[in-house]
Amino acid sequence: MSLPKIFITRPMPLPAVERLATGCDLKMHPEDAPIEPQRLVEACREIEGLMASGTRVSSELLENAPRLRVISNVGVGYDNIDVAACTRRRILVTNTPDVLTEATADLAFALLMAVARRLVEGDRYVREGHWHYWKWAHLWGTDLFRKTLGVYGLGRIGKAVARRARGFSMRVLYYDIVRPSPALEQELGAQFVDRETLLREADFLTLHVPLTPETHHLISAREFAMMKSMAFLINAARGKVVDETALVEALESKRIAGAGLDVFEQEPHVHPTLLALPNVVLAPHVGSATSETRLAMAMLAAENLLAALEGRRPPNPVNPEILA
Ligand code: DGY
Repeated sequence: MSLPKIFITRPMPLPAVERLATGCDLKMHPEDAPIEPQRLVEACREIEGLMASGTRVSSELLENAPRLRVISNVGVGYDNIDVAACTRRRILVTNTPDVLTEATADLAFALLMAVARRLVEGDRYVREGHWHYWKWAHLWGTDLFRKTLGVYGLGRIGKAVARRARGFSMRVLYYDIVRPSPALEQELGAQFVDRETLLREADFLTLHVPLTPETHHLISAREFAMMKSMAFLINAARGKVVDETALVEALESKRIAGAGLDVFEQEPHVHPTLLALPNVVLAPHVGSATSETRLAMAMLAAENLLAALEGRRPPNPVNPEILA
């Protein structure tokens, strides 16, 4: 019996490829760069499984993939995939939650610390040869200790960030549409507040919501107007959750003190003003980019793909209704 054909949209770690090869006839895009849309269409014509990493999967692509049964997204966020169109065509979508929680929380916290303590400015100062003598009044940053962290979205990553904040004796406030159990709130030392209180009281506002139509531009001019002028915004979720034009205005007018950003509205395009501002720390969407985490993501994505193709329930279905 012939093995099901699959396509992987960028090179994946060898153990994941070897695992997939046990049950699939696979082809892989050889470059760690976006595949051209026409090449992707060609690659999808005959396949039953697609392993998508940072790849946009539109309903037009699905129309050209009549045999496709499963799309395994290598990532927790799946706003790159038209899930509704997949569900209509009875294509299962899976993702890779949990395995990247800690790495992404680390990165969010790293951005927070870097912007609060002006690490990038300091690095540049040393490298550019400006450090001739020690100064008292130089690169003063902001304490984290006993400051208020506002966690917007207390899902897996939001919780992991809240746990880190306890080690810094921060007061943790959170807002979410779903309220976790009192026991979890107690464990995290996190207090539920309404959205406005979160925005008004946070010294550091960190975003941990998925991108959906409801969260598009969740933080815009109205929200910046409520924030403290000494507050920092941290975004390691999705760029479109923040209205970037409003963010630029808030930073330029000193409405807020700074930002730490791993994600942007039009990646890889970054607003030129953000590039120029010293009180903004920028990263190229690397929240889950550690060797351990990326391997775990690839392995989980492989497992999801194989399970679905073999008729087993995959660990992480996004549209499980089609399994019923
Ligand atoms: C995720 O897992 O959603 C990361 O942002 C990578 O896309």
